[in-house]
Amino acid sequence: MTSSRAIGFGLGDLPRIARGEGSYLFDTEGRRYLDGSGGPAAFSIGHGNREVNAAISAQLAQIACGYRYLFTSDALEQLTALILGQCGPAFAHIVYASSGSEAVESALKVALQYWDARGLPQKHRFIARERSYHGNTLGALSVSGFRERRRPFERSLIEVAFVSAANAYRPAAGTDPARLGASLAQELEQCILRLGPQNVAAFIFEPVVGAAAGAVPAPPDYARAVREVCDRHDVLLIADEVMCGSGRCGSWRALASEAVVPDIMAVAKGLAGGYIPLGATIFKREIGDALLAEHGAILTGYTYSGHTAACAAGLAVQRIIEREGLLERVRSRGPALQSELRSSLARFEEVGDVRGRGYLIGIEFVRERATKTPFPRERGLSHSIARRAFSDGLICYPCAGHVEGGLGDTIIIAPPYNVSDAELTELTEKLTGAIEKTLSAAAHPP
Ligand SMILES: Cc1ncc(COP(=O)(O)O)c(C=O)c1O
Repeated sequence: MTSSRAIGFGLGDLPRIARGEGSYLFDTEGRRYLDGSGGPAAFSIGHGNREVNAAISAQLAQIACGYRYLFTSDALEQLTALILGQCGPAFAHIVYASSGSEAVESALKVALQYWDARGLPQKHRFIARERSYHGNTLGALSVSGFRERRRPFERSLIEVAFVSAANAYRPAAGTDPARLGASLAQELEQCILRLGPQNVAAFIFEPVVGAAAGAVPAPPDYARAVREVCDRHDVLLIADEVMCGSGRCGSWRALASEAVVPDIMAVAKGLAGGYIPLGATIFKREIGDALLAEHGAILTGYTYSGHTAACAAGLAVQRIIEREGLLERVRSRGPALQSELRSSLARFEEVGDVRGRGYLIGIEFVRERATKTPFPRERGLSHSIARRAFSDGLICYPCAGHVEGGLGDTIIIAPPYNVSDAELTELTEKLTGAIEKTLSAAAHPP
């Protein structure tokens, strides 16, 4: 039996979930929770959606899963057309998965297979960034700059070169804050040259870093600059949009707002909005075509790749996002939510930074604003705030450890795209209250 304390954000004994409706979840004791982050930024259209549930039921009534390598299906083909339509004409191939980790794993493998197909199998090294998270399978964890999650597995991870995080609030030592994007792209170029471009398969990054740093968008010129570096040295660019993609930042591809096209991208979380696990690796026409021409198959995939009911769920979720104009809503309401949070939290000296894009917003806490000094680790501030918010009926996502030495406290806010204005007001009020109570409890211990 698993312990109800064994997982969770250090929230203590876990309540038992009963049901969900729109932006709210209810436990078996009748307590109501506003979904301010859906846990890890997964629930794009809220909970208990009748249309999605009906689409899944209708699919189940026909067949749950026609094995992808024997059958195609309406759900799979319609979802594929919808995703490719959203991604733009450069993309033509999709391998489905059941999680973000699997989608990233496939992204890495597609890159390796591509170079093999091109007769350049020595291009096998990956470059990734510090303070990043790409998943929990060994390959995805290998490219993750997340010390706490890697530590027990370190000896079995593949060798990856890491470059600095792209964090304007905490620019890496040795970078020029005034031209941070260019400076970091230069560091990437030096890394490629040190490894030898003939050895480098791909550079992987999150356009907006999620749990590893607390919703950190890269500086505005960064993505374009790293795209140019990769092009110069024939290195593939992989965008991990598992958390920030599928519309969470207000455009279907997070990088679309910067007019940057990666070679390969991974999505999951918001794709089927948590109704059924679903991820996807999406890649350019010439990459997939090269694999098919040389090897006759794309050599990554899983038993449940393209699971029919999962595709039906993804299709229903995506159709609702499209029909209800939810990307426009996230694009216009996201910045307003960010500034509402900023002004509601302005009175706390401990709120150092409010940042993010669309409905992926991070709030970073510091002991002192001027010096950005983090709180001591033992204080567990972000988890204390999340615990307090949870008991006050608000779900938010605590992240810790993104500052040197395992310090740093942030809270991620990532509500459903169709959250109402009244619910966003409740979110801001509850979060402000939880922060106030947590900080004053520390200042005046009983
Ligand atoms: C950017 C990113 N990539 C990959 C993953 C792994 O996804 P999953 O937990 O669905 O395997 C996550 C999960 O949080 C993520 O945020």
